[in-house]
Amino acid sequence: MARSVRQATLLLLLCGFASQTAQGADVPGFRRRRHGDAAETGATLAARQPPPYPDNVIDMPVDHYPLDDRYKPHTTATFQQHYLFDATYYQPGGPVFLYVGGETSARSRASNLQTGIVQILMNATGGLGVILENRYYGNSYPFDDSTTDHLVYLTNEQTIADAAYFAQHVVFPGINESLTAPGTPWILYGGSLAGGQTAMALKAHGDVLYAGIASSGIISVKLEYPEW
Ligand SMILES: *[C@@H]1O[C@H](CO)[C@@H](O)[C@H](O)[C@H]1NC(C)=O
Ligand SMILES: *[C@@H]1O[C@H](CO)[C@@H](O)[C@H](O)[C@H]1NC(C)=O
Repeated sequence: MARSVRQATLLLLLCGFASQTAQGADVPGFRRRRHGDAAETGATLAARQPPPYPDNVIDMPVDHYPLDDRYKPHTTATFQQHYLFDATYYQPGGPVFLYVGGETSARSRASNLQTGIVQILMNATGGLGVILENRYYGNSYPFDDSTTDHLVYLTNEQTIADAAYFAQHVVFPGINESLTAPGTPWILYGGSLAGGQTAMALKAHGDVLYAGIASSGIISVKLEYPEW
């Protein structure tokens, strides 16, 4: 009970942060965009990756927890995790908005960089928006089969560790500056499963990630769900 109250409070705080940002409040850590400024930019026009967004990949460790028995037999392999980004609104000093992919391909989420809360926040803050494909979905499948041994790395814990690793290591093609966390504020957004993952990511990796907006975040887990 206390736990879900704390989480609900966290979500409310996060939503409060988002609405402040959308209204253009000063947020420590990044500069407001000044509309109409012909400000210098770290992204050339060609590098802004407008839609249809080019596919990008990062080499991601399959197993972020080599010392944890739950992930035996372990692997040191990496897989290519796909991401799409939009730097249309990006201004140097702006934050990064990470749209958490959830249970589908990154490509099928692409319109969320053009409309909705991430687009509004990018425009309001001079931010860059990026969708990281969830491991085991779309083209980001670490193995060429689905044996039990290979599915062991498909957990929320590994998934949110992907987000933290990505924030610390990504080099955006065409952006001539480092946008890694925690030097640059990374703000996660996710809905439903990805909303739960957003809240969990902030809880587990709050030293790396700046903030999160958990929309309809799932905060209780059931092993079996016949009502569904
Ligand atoms: C960006 O925000 C400004 C200021 O609120 C608004 O006038 C403009 O229409 C927005 N642009 C887009 C593409 O949303
Ligand atoms: C990238 O930035 C560095 C230093 O900030 C500068 O010397 C270099 O010319 C820039 N490169 C491009 C392609 O803009």
